[in-house]
Amino acid sequence: MKPVNIGIIGLGTVGCATVEILKANAADIADRVGRPVVVSHACVRDPSKPRSCDLSSVELLKDTADLVNHPDIDIVVELMGGTDLALDLGLQAVAAGKHLVTANKALIAEHGNQLFAAAQANGVTVAYEAAVAGGIPIIKAIREGLAGNRIHSVAGIINGTGNFILSEMRDKGRAFDDVLREAQELGYAEADPTFDVEGIDAAHKLTILASIAFGIPLNFPAVFTEGISTVTAEDVTNAEKLGYRIKHLGIAEQTESGVSLRVHPTLIPQTQLLANVHGVMNAVQVQSDAVGESLYYGAGAGGGPTGSAVVADILDIARALTATPEQRVPFLGFQPERLKNIPLLTIEAVESAYYLRMRAADQPGVMAEVTGILGQFGISIEAIEQTEPVQHDTQATIIMLTHRVIEQKMVEAIKQIEALQTIVGAVTMIRVEHFNTRQST
Ligand code: NAP
Ligand code: HSE
Repeated sequence: MKPVNIGIIGLGTVGCATVEILKANAADIADRVGRPVVVSHACVRDPSKPRSCDLSSVELLKDTADLVNHPDIDIVVELMGGTDLALDLGLQAVAAGKHLVTANKALIAEHGNQLFAAAQANGVTVAYEAAVAGGIPIIKAIREGLAGNRIHSVAGIINGTGNFILSEMRDKGRAFDDVLREAQELGYAEADPTFDVEGIDAAHKLTILASIAFGIPLNFPAVFTEGISTVTAEDVTNAEKLGYRIKHLGIAEQTESGVSLRVHPTLIPQTQLLANVHGVMNAVQVQSDAVGESLYYGAGAGGGPTGSAVVADILDIARALTATPEQRVPFLGFQPERLKNIPLLTIEAVESAYYLRMRAADQPGVMAEVTGILGQFGISIEAIEQTEPVQHDTQATIIMLTHRVIEQKMVEAIKQIEALQTIVGAVTMIRVEHFNTRQST
């Protein structure tokens, strides 16, 4: 089947990540869409610059106007930033009947009303999931997932650079400028980083969130905006001593008298989930009538997470171009004829780390017997603790954390441990997962 052709403007942090994701997951993507999705063309400012992505099958065009009007391109993806040229190219793209995907929150917040009207007039889509909260599918969650709710408020940490700076200042006592430089090197910051530290970027995102939450036109100038550049290390420490944490929040609230839109540094109790969102991570808390409170968390900036959101938008459009209207998203996400017979693992074949608790006779050599059995099964121990027996008690409690091992080995090892004369009763086993540190395959 004919591929869906993508033309990308901008191959920086997000553009190159998008190219790489489309390439790395090409087979699964074709199974989801029903046909291949390929980057056929791209445009950059300086074609001689080395790129971090493989462009061997991509035709580089010199002129952005040629890309947005190219007859072979189905979807234009704008990943260059800025508002003037981006708006001009966006309008040209939709006028040429191209669907537009963008990560550009400034473009959507400041010119979205105009761009959406033009797209509607031309029967095409403008998709912008990557514009807010990086890899978190927050646009889809609010606009579609919570469509049955009346939303009261949306509040969140929606600038990764700012949160990274505040976290590093608090945790490591680092200086503001030093952390900002690192955020720029990591590809988190905007081309003009004052957008991050003065809250403009968060205000762009809040503008978008408020519109989809409350059904109001985009109104960026209505957002009260205060940045984090005046927050000192001393404020950060003082807040901590008081049991609070300073976070840069975007808050949109619907009250009886209207909607308030604000971005500013905020002290929140350390016990709240939002206070524990660190580094480049973002989180958006939505208060709505049917669900109550819901929280959406994930990486808020950087190539991979943002590229992921760009690719999701591309696939949404590609599926609409491919599928029958009643099956815009296949029931199981993949095309029915492309569902795979992947072997399903039994629990014995699953790998996990484990917490073990057992009662043992308080006599010499018990620990050696237990660790010896674990060793025979190749199970290594991460931590071990033996509680002292209380008065008149002849038994002690042994608690262990193990490294990851196939469950079958753990089950066999536990059988042998329970058979020891010195072990009393059954061994308690609880699986331990460290999702955030797991290597992706
Ligand atoms: P970037 O690394 O600075 O990349 C920008 C790209 O656009 C570069 O490849 C640049 O070309 C190209 N470009 C700039 N002006 C151009 C022009 N006039 N004609 C053709 N190409 C042009 O920026 P980025 O971080 O990827 O961000 C791109 C967009 O995504 C921005 O709207 C940003 O707000 C948004 N975004 C970024 C992130 C993130 O974490 N970085 C997250 C969410 C959204 P050269 O390489 O030749 O200079
Ligand atoms: N500069 C932005 C941030 C990129 O740090 O959150 C993601 O939108």
